[in-house]
Amino acid sequence: MAVKCNTNYLANFIRPEEYEGMQHLVCAAHQTLHEKSGLGNDFLGWVDLPTNYDKAEFERIKAAAKKIQQQSKVLVVIGIGGSYLGARAAIEYIGSNNYNALAKDTPQIYFVGNTISPSYLNDILAICEGVDFSVNVISKSGTTTEPALAFRVFKELLEKRYGPEGAKERIYSTTDKARGTLKELSDRNGYETFVIPDDVGGRYSVLTPVGLLPIAVAGCDIDAVMAGAKEAQDAFTDPNLAKNDCYKYAAIRNILYNKGYSVEIMASYEPSYGQMNEWFKQLYGESEGKDHKALYPSSVIFSTDLHSLGQYIQDGRRQLFETVIDFAEPKSDFFIPEDPENLDGLNFLSGQNMSNVNKKAMQGTILAHVKGGVPNVVLQIDKMDARSFGYLVYFLEKACAISGYLLGVNPFDQPGVESYKKNMFALLGKPGYEDLREELVKEIQE
Ligand code: PA5
Repeated sequence: MAVKCNTNYLANFIRPEEYEGMQHLVCAAHQTLHEKSGLGNDFLGWVDLPTNYDKAEFERIKAAAKKIQQQSKVLVVIGIGGSYLGARAAIEYIGSNNYNALAKDTPQIYFVGNTISPSYLNDILAICEGVDFSVNVISKSGTTTEPALAFRVFKELLEKRYGPEGAKERIYSTTDKARGTLKELSDRNGYETFVIPDDVGGRYSVLTPVGLLPIAVAGCDIDAVMAGAKEAQDAFTDPNLAKNDCYKYAAIRNILYNKGYSVEIMASYEPSYGQMNEWFKQLYGESEGKDHKALYPSSVIFSTDLHSLGQYIQDGRRQLFETVIDFAEPKSDFFIPEDPENLDGLNFLSGQNMSNVNKKAMQGTILAHVKGGVPNVVLQIDKMDARSFGYLVYFLEKACAISGYLLGVNPFDQPGVESYKKNMFALLGKPGYEDLREELVKEIQE
């Protein structure tokens, strides 16, 4: 089993009857999801994706990844939100948070179009100077401002450097199968395109070409990713909470939320999990944060953050619970040698592996936080590899859908994201936004 939900540290916070009390609601949420009868039911393509993905396109992804690896030293991935977070998380989880510095036989990968910062853009342009590069532009709608703006810049750079024909050989576009400006542009210019299925929303799309192409370019085993996801798909079909750790995690979140906990902190002891935290926050934040409800998803990397947020978690306002990610095996280990002088007094650690010290830090922290009044649920994962990535993605996606239905929201839309866009367009003078612009200009206080 790749992911197990350890509830032993919740004993003082959740009584066994409380799980029983949730069972019928979980059964209803399960039925709603599998019968496709609930809110957002036209965005459930991810549920069967590990079985029903397009196998021919999957082979095309592998071929494109090989071509990019041969042609380029750098791959620029353009996308925002669900159109980049999963790929970035995978590359760091399966590879390393130092992937770009360590990459030898595969291109460095930079993510743009997820910010409008000109300094960030200029840095990536400087990195591409004199270096062969390719671009993967990813946008389901094909109209999102941030990636569209970035694509304009990198398309022009590629065309200047390689000519329109050469550029065409280096641009890969991942978008809707029929609609949107990006689709039109890609067809007109003859870019190789990959499809984001209609029934898979952005934040549930990491196991489509959205995630798979950049992940494959980084040299990660996408067959193993899909095999892990398939294992999870098969593992979590029984709504019985005693047999379904994915649903148990969803139930725990809702039990704690109903008791007044308002913040979930995902805590990992591996820096290479940092981008997975970001993916988790987007998945849960965008799926559940609506109608003025839901847990606020937050994250830490320990022991780093034990020296910053650790104080708050231990002693601050009691509104938090932690979801701790515990890997049974480290990706690699380090043997702590003996120092004959022992001036630092650390010889009590010599002869041990660093992973053991990390594990004891985790156990000590869990015990301290639980004693301090912070419920801890532990997700135990065997190891940090391509298979467990696929498994964990599916586990968290399905838990998110069930949790959202338990909360009574549509876990598959994101209406709130539009508000900032409207204001930004109005303030930038986009045609059609004149009235709103007039209103907003009066409100700005500088
Ligand atoms: O999860 C989502 O649906 C969003 O975060 C989108 O992925 C994000 O807004 C980017 O949208 P698009 O791919 O249409 O550019």
